[in-house]
Amino acid sequence: MTATVDTLGSGRELVSAALRDAVARLDPAMRLVVAYHLGWCDPHGNPLDGNGGKAVRPTMALLAAQACGAPAADALPGAVAVELVHNFSLVHDDLMDRDTERRHRTTVWAVWDDATAVLAGDVMLSLAHEVLLDCDSPYAIQAGRVITTATRELIRGQAQDMAFEQRDDVRLPECVDMALGKTGALLAASAEVGAVLAGATPTTAAAMSDYGRHVGLAFQLVDDVLGIWGRPETTGKPVFSDLRAHKKSLPITWTVERGDGAGRRLAAWLVGAPDETTPETELRAIAGLVEDAGARDWALAQARRRIGLAERALDSVPLQDAPCAALRDLARFILDREA
Ligand code: IPE
Ligand code: IPE
Ligand code: MG
Ligand code: MG
Repeated sequence: MTATVDTLGSGRELVSAALRDAVARLDPAMRLVVAYHLGWCDPHGNPLDGNGGKAVRPTMALLAAQACGAPAADALPGAVAVELVHNFSLVHDDLMDRDTERRHRTTVWAVWDDATAVLAGDVMLSLAHEVLLDCDSPYAIQAGRVITTATRELIRGQAQDMAFEQRDDVRLPECVDMALGKTGALLAASAEVGAVLAGATPTTAAAMSDYGRHVGLAFQLVDDVLGIWGRPETTGKPVFSDLRAHKKSLPITWTVERGDGAGRRLAAWLVGAPDETTPETELRAIAGLVEDAGARDWALAQARRRIGLAERALDSVPLQDAPCAALRDLARFILDREA
């Protein structure tokens, strides 16, 4: 295969056939649930040309391999693996966050039940490792290690994210550390796994990992902004879900930490257990308070700073020009995205 990847669209296209081959291995019951989650069918199995997500992580893996001088195809098993790990985390995340909508569709636990969501997530994680173990790359074991370590980090971050809902004393460094775990780790692994499967030097693989980690933090900052100020018709996710759950997201933690009038009002509102019946008008007022405090501007400025750091990581090692430029474009897309 000689396909070249230069955009999210071409990345999605290259990975989609390999992803379908992997999912075909599943038993019929799990295959249906996973295919539904990936936007390939409705809950009854009727085919759909649906929304399976942006494919940021697999595209990053394929571009990283090309930037290191290898064909995109060398990184295909890694690209499929990171997309499966990502989707494992989303199905479990929606269950934990009790969110009923993702990618403009009803989430797996809400269509079926909690057990089905647990199993569908688990089976995608297993499948990710099968795909890597079965590939004939001389770097498969090394790639597998990158993915397992990142998954452990992602789980650490998710555990912190959940624990923070019940806490009133979360500080910004701890919140950044949580986001680096839940989101930064898999984006770092996506870029690194592409470099590893391309046979890159450890220095280049480490630079790719740094690039992905910075992009990952920018990604979560933008995700937190969209979670408060995004339009659900565009994001495909429920409005104010993070506020309702008292998530200690980055803009929320920053506002509380400032300790000024807005920070104290927000801290007082966050005291006590989250209440899922909080009216939308109240949540909208809190979103306004946080915006007036400057949290939205702060989060977007931090995201821009992280993208700058990601670009510096790319500059620190010799890379192929065109795919390196595409990695820069991908980082910029993260900043400007609305979904
Ligand atoms: C959503 O990730 C979860 C986060 C890490 C913030 P994406 O926004 O990449 O999800 P899809 O795959 O494009 O739907
Ligand atoms: C993102 O979780 C990270 C993982 C799924 C591991 P969030 O809860 O912040 O993301 P969304 O907004 O539901 O996609
Ligand atoms: Mg979550
Ligand atoms: Mg969530």
